[in-house]
Amino acid sequence: MTDITFTLNGAPVRVAGQPPTRTLLDWLREDRKLTGTKEGCNEGDCGACTVWVRDRAGVRALNACILFLPQVHGTAVRTVEGMAAPDGTLHPVQRAMIDHHASQCGFCTPGFVVAMAAAHARGEADHDTALAGNLCRCTGYAPIVRAAEAAAREPVPAWLDDPLPEAGDPGVAMPETADALAAWFAAHPHGTLVGGGTDAGLWVTKQFRSLAPVAFTGRCADLRRIEVGADRVRIGAAVTLAELEPAMAALHPAFAALIRRFGGPQVRAAATIGGNIANASPIGDSPPPLIALDATLHLRRGDARRSIPLESFFLAYGRQDRAPGEFVEAVSFPRQPDRLRVWKVSKRFDDDISAVCGAFRIALDGGRVAAARIAFGGMAGIPARARAAEAALTGRVWDETAVAAAQAALAKDFRPIDDHRASAAYRMAVAQAMLTRCLMADRGSAPSVLEVSP
Ligand SMILES: Cc1cc2nc3c(=O)[nH]c(=O)nc-3n(C[C@H](O)[C@H](O)[C@H](O)COP(=O)(O)OP(=O)(O)OC[C@H]3O[C@@H](n4cnc5c(N)ncnc54)[C@H](O)[C@@H]3O)c2cc1C
Ligand code: FES
Ligand code: FES
Repeated sequence: MTDITFTLNGAPVRVAGQPPTRTLLDWLREDRKLTGTKEGCNEGDCGACTVWVRDRAGVRALNACILFLPQVHGTAVRTVEGMAAPDGTLHPVQRAMIDHHASQCGFCTPGFVVAMAAAHARGEADHDTALAGNLCRCTGYAPIVRAAEAAAREPVPAWLDDPLPEAGDPGVAMPETADALAAWFAAHPHGTLVGGGTDAGLWVTKQFRSLAPVAFTGRCADLRRIEVGADRVRIGAAVTLAELEPAMAALHPAFAALIRRFGGPQVRAAATIGGNIANASPIGDSPPPLIALDATLHLRRGDARRSIPLESFFLAYGRQDRAPGEFVEAVSFPRQPDRLRVWKVSKRFDDDISAVCGAFRIALDGGRVAAARIAFGGMAGIPARARAAEAALTGRVWDETAVAAAQAALAKDFRPIDDHRASAAYRMAVAQAMLTRCLMADRGSAPSVLEVSP
C-alpha cells in the first residue's frame, strides 16, 4: 500500500493506504472531487485527463487515467483547478482560450488547457505536435492553435513554480538503482514491472487485472541514461520516448521523426523504451529501427547478465526470450553513418498505432547495395527482419530492378497479419511501396508528409 507525497495545486498531500495501481485520475475525481480532470477514453488516447507533473527534469503533461499514484511520488502535480492564480487571475492559455472562442461543449477543454500550459512552460513552439494527444470533437483545432500561439507571447506564471516535496519511502517498490530492481525482481519473479504504465495502465483500466506485486522502474537513475560513446549508443530501459527523441535527432533523424508520431506527447513523456520492447507487441514502433541498426538487448536476472541480438528476443506472437525475474536493462547499437530510413503507416497521422512500420538501412558502395538490413513491425506476429528482401538487394545495382526483386522477395518473408487495423494485402502493398520510397528518398525525390501543405 502506498505512502506517497506530492504537491497538488500547490498544497502538500500525503496519500497512504492506496493500492499501487490506483490511477491518479480515479483518486483526483473520487477522493478529491477534482472533477475538472475528465475521463474520456480511460486509455491514454484523448487527453481529457491531462495533468501537469513537474519533477527535477521539468514539466510534463501526462494522462492521469493511465498514471498510477506512485508515479507522482515526489513531484508537483497541477490539475486544471490549479492553473489560475490563487486570486483568480487566469493562466495565459485560459485567457487565450476564451479570447479565441476555442471551446464549444467544453468537455475536452480542461485537458487542452493543462496540455497547453505544460507546452507553454516548456517553451514549445510547434503547437500542432504539442496538442496531438488531445482530442476535440467539436471546436476544431484552428481556434485552439490560435489560442496557443497568442499565449506563447506571455511569460510563464510564477504561481506555478511549486517547491518539490521531500520524497520519503513510498511504501511500494520503487527502486533507485538497477541492482535494487534486480534484487526485487529475483525475489518476485512473477511480479509486474511498470515503466511508464502506458501499456500496463490499460490492463488495469480496461481489463481490470491485478498486477500485484508491482515495481516501478522510473526512479532507477542508472536505467535512465543515454550514453553516446565513440563506438556504441546505449539507451537505458527506463529512458522515455520523449527523452530519446532529441538524442536520436542528432544520430538518426528518421528515428526521431518516428518518435514524434509515437502516441501523443502525454504518452511519449511516460512511455519507456524498455516497455516498448518488453511488451510483446507485434506493432511496437521502436523495434524495427533498432533491429535495422543492429541493436543488442541487454537482459539481467539477479546478478546474471546476458546480451542478445534484439531480433532474437522476439520468439512468437506474445512470446519473448525472457525468463521470470529477468528484465531489460538497456538496448545498444553501434555508432554508424546514418543510413536509416523509417516509415510508419497508420490510419491517423498523430497518436495512432502502426499498421506497418518499416525500417531500412541500405549501405551503398559505388552504386551497388553493399549491405541491407530491413525490419518491419505489423507484418508478422513479431517485429522481424525481411531476410529474403535483404538477400535480393545485396550486391545489386540500387535501382528499380533491385527494388522489384526485393518486393517479390518480401512476399516470401511475410504472411502479414490481418486485423481491424489493416488487411494482409494492404500491409504487403504498403511494405513493398516503402522499398520504392527508399529508392526515391536516396534520389532526393520522396517528399515528407510534413512538407505537404494545403
Ligand atoms: C494512447 C496510446 C498510444 C500509443 N501509441 C504507441 C505508438 O504510437 N507506438 C508504439 O509502439 N506504442 C504505442 N503505445 C504503446 C505504449 O505506449 C508503448 O508500448 C510504450 O513504449 C510502453 O512503455 P511503458 O514504459 O509505458 O510500458 P509499461 O506499460 O510500463 O510496461 C509494458 C510492459 O513492459 C514490461 N516492462 C516495462 N519495463 C520493463 C523492463 N525494463 N524490463 C522488462 N519488462 C519491462 C512491463 O512489465 C509490461 O509487461 C501507445 C499507448 C497508448 C496508451
Ligand atoms: S481519459 Fe482519455 S487519455 Fe485519459
Ligand atoms: S469543445 Fe467539445 S470536445 Fe472539444
